[in-house]
Amino acid sequence: MTEKIYIFDFGSQYTQLIARRVRELNVYCEIHPYNHLPVIDKEVKGIILSGSPHSVFDNDAPSIELDSLRGELPVLGVCYGAQLTAFEAGGKVVRSETREYGRANLEFINDRNPLLRHITAKSQVWMSHGDTIKELPEDFTIIASTKDVKVAAFQVEGEETYGIQFHPEVTHSTEGEQLLKNFLVDICGCAQDWTPAHFVEDTIADLKEKLGNDKVVMGLSGGVDSSVAAMLLHRAIGENLYCIFVDNGLLRKDEFETVLHSYEDMGLNVKGVDAKDAFYKELSGVTDPEQKRKVIGRVFIEVFDDESHKIEDVKWLGQGTIYPDVIESVSVKGPSATIKSHHNVGGLPDFMKLKVVEPLNTLFKDEVRRVGKELEIKQIILGRHPFPGPGLGIRILSDITPEKVRILQEVDHIFIKGLKDYGLYDDVWQAGVMLLPVQSVGVMGDERTYENVVALRAVASLDGMTADWVHLPYDFLAEVSNKIINRVKGVNRVVYDISSKPPATIEWE
Ligand code: XMP
Repeated sequence: MTEKIYIFDFGSQYTQLIARRVRELNVYCEIHPYNHLPVIDKEVKGIILSGSPHSVFDNDAPSIELDSLRGELPVLGVCYGAQLTAFEAGGKVVRSETREYGRANLEFINDRNPLLRHITAKSQVWMSHGDTIKELPEDFTIIASTKDVKVAAFQVEGEETYGIQFHPEVTHSTEGEQLLKNFLVDICGCAQDWTPAHFVEDTIADLKEKLGNDKVVMGLSGGVDSSVAAMLLHRAIGENLYCIFVDNGLLRKDEFETVLHSYEDMGLNVKGVDAKDAFYKELSGVTDPEQKRKVIGRVFIEVFDDESHKIEDVKWLGQGTIYPDVIESVSVKGPSATIKSHHNVGGLPDFMKLKVVEPLNTLFKDEVRRVGKELEIKQIILGRHPFPGPGLGIRILSDITPEKVRILQEVDHIFIKGLKDYGLYDDVWQAGVMLLPVQSVGVMGDERTYENVVALRAVASLDGMTADWVHLPYDFLAEVSNKIINRVKGVNRVVYDISSKPPATIEWE
């Protein structure tokens, strides 16, 4: 039995951050949109109500049946969650005269209150709300105030129901972690035992029970998610896991062989399939980026389907789906909680009527890495930069030919190896090279050349949604540029991409 916290989401941009903070305290939690609430079973130890861009007065203000929760389980309302709790119990919420936004300090703290124990005088908190609680219902008590916000925190007398009008999950609330810990441990009674080791043990037991003697087929990409998911499945069902790793001809230099060997070392039952020619043939003459993606996706499915038909009696498709994909497809804004599979587009062909098993669908990316470490997966797989599914196909900015792939692989190899040799690889979130559809004039020896231009790209990012270009040292760039031009026939000019996302994107196509 895994004890857990439910976070009911009213659409705040910070909801995922609350979940991450709770998990950093080794307590398992799940986000559920307010309009698709789950059954509350015995494992649920407490509820957190998120913030929201809405106001409690809006016609379509998100709301839930709070009466049935309050008193039954500990409840912590954050911003909108707090306002809603007060408003529904007859309190007064008004538009605040000044927008309460940014840093503030708690001027009054009832430090005997369990939620605020060990919070120090003048503790800094982060405010971000347009409405404010003006009057509390009778049985609500103020337990903290700032200079401008009298009801910074409240408790309902005789109940484990709390509200706070600041955000403990953002780092600007310097003691936010302590407050969350007070709620989770002292008020909800959570044991803080949700660790990677615990996750691995539980997941393997669940997978064993769910899969029994069934066979599972799974496509590996060399990336972190599919590798960790496969390793968990392998620990649960051993040889009944059939992994397929397809060489689409658009991987990095030597990547197919290196990664295949790593998988074999890990004990995985993996088949490497060389399908380069099929991909090159179908991609011949295709220049439109979306068309390339479609062709690559289609050929992958054909190859994968062919291979999986060779395995008799397979019942399941394993996937490396992670929690953010699931939240995206069941969000407050999403069309319906029943649509759960759009993240499978491209991964699950309709004609393969397999059941899906996704051992990582409750984890965030950094948690996947920690689980991977627990499973002793090698750093060469865990520490890899993200790499797009269509691979070098969307880094060749024209039609794809084996010769262009070869040139790009050589250039990319020099760049990536250089980053590793200079100790820069782990400081960069993602790096790669684009082969531009541009020729430029150069001189080599006594001859004029008219050859290709490549663009190097290295970005810092958290999740790929936004990204900054990395200020790589000039001497590093100079060395890499020299090596590329001297060693890779067909390239006579190297440029470095200094655009951030937005407005640029990470890939050029
Ligand atoms: P952009 O270029 O949109 O990329 O800033 C954001 C992140 O997504 C990756 N990316 C892809 N990954 N299939 C993938 O699996 C794709 O078609 C694709 N396009 C972009 C990109 O490498 C970056 O990490």
